[in-house]
This record gives sequence, structure tokens and C-alpha cells, in this order.
Amino acid sequence: MKREEITFSIALYDSIDELNEEDASLLAEARKVTQYAYAPYSDFKVGAFAKLENGKTVSGTNQENASFPAGICAERTLLSTAASLFPGVAIDTIAISYNNLKGKSDRPISPCGICRQSLVEFQDRTKKKIRIILSGMEGKVQVIENAKDLLPLVFCANDMK
Ligand code: THU
Repeated sequence: MKREEITFSIALYDSIDELNEEDASLLAEARKVTQYAYAPYSDFKVGAFAKLENGKTVSGTNQENASFPAGICAERTLLSTAASLFPGVAIDTIAISYNNLKGKSDRPISPCGICRQSLVEFQDRTKKKIRIILSGMEGKVQVIENAKDLLPLVFCANDMK
């Protein structure tokens, strides 16, 4: 028997002020687009904002539904938008923020399991690692260099060959 360690590292910043100009602007936009979320059931508005490899930007927000499973997270809204408007173009960096109308938004949250799966497939498809910036409306910021770090032992297209 062998044991294997799976590790990854996150960059931690005390606030948006410590980020470089481009990352700070992506995070500021992610915070801004939370207002376009439709989240009357959870009161939890998530905003995602990405810069693509071609220099264009796209956003996504969570869009809920009275039939709860029909709702979609901000991250997957963004991925669908990017793939529809700019087919085949890789994502460089995604910033994700949220506005919790029932509570605080002063620490990073990270993508749910389904979104992690979708992020990994998107980056496999476009052959470029997606950087992820995570933060609330204020406070600390986490930066992850590879979406795959969030989903060790991922099931992917290759496994079906
Ligand atoms: N949500 C996202 O949009 N992204 C995440 O990574 C976590 C959760 C949404 C789904 C739902 O509309 C609300 O936040 C509460 O779970």
C-alpha cells in the first residue's frame, strides 16, 4: 500500500486593496453584478465575472426558480454565456462574490460541487487553467490558480474513453 498526498495552495489577501489592478477590477465587477441575481428564495445573490483569453469579459449570476432544481448558479450561468458568445475561447480568470441579504458577506465562498465539475470540464475543453478569485462584498480574498484544485480525483471526459 502506498499513500498519496493531494495538496494545493491558495493565495490569501486581507482585502481587495492588496490585489493587482486587473484582479481588483474583476472582483469589483463580480461584486457589482450580484445585483442582477434573481434569488427571491434564498436571498443569496451570487455574481461571477470573468476575463477571457481574447480580452473580452462576461458575467453570470444565480437565477432561481419556484421549482427549485430549475435554478442555476452564477458560475454555470457565466460558463454558458462564455461558451455561447465566444465559442472555444478559454477563460483566464473568474472572480466570484455574493451578497447575502440575510447575513454577512465578509468572507470568501467557493463554488458548489456541480459548478466545480462544470469549471473543470470547461478548462479541459479549452485547454487552459481557470484562475479563481473568491471574496464576499468585503474582506479577505482567496486566489486559486487552477479550478481542478477544487475537485481532486475529478471524473472527466477522459475517464469515458
Ligand atoms: N449559488 C451560486 O450561484 N453559486 C455557488 O457557488 C453557491 C450557490 C447560488 C445557488 C442558489 O441560488 C443560492 O446561491 C443559494 O444556494
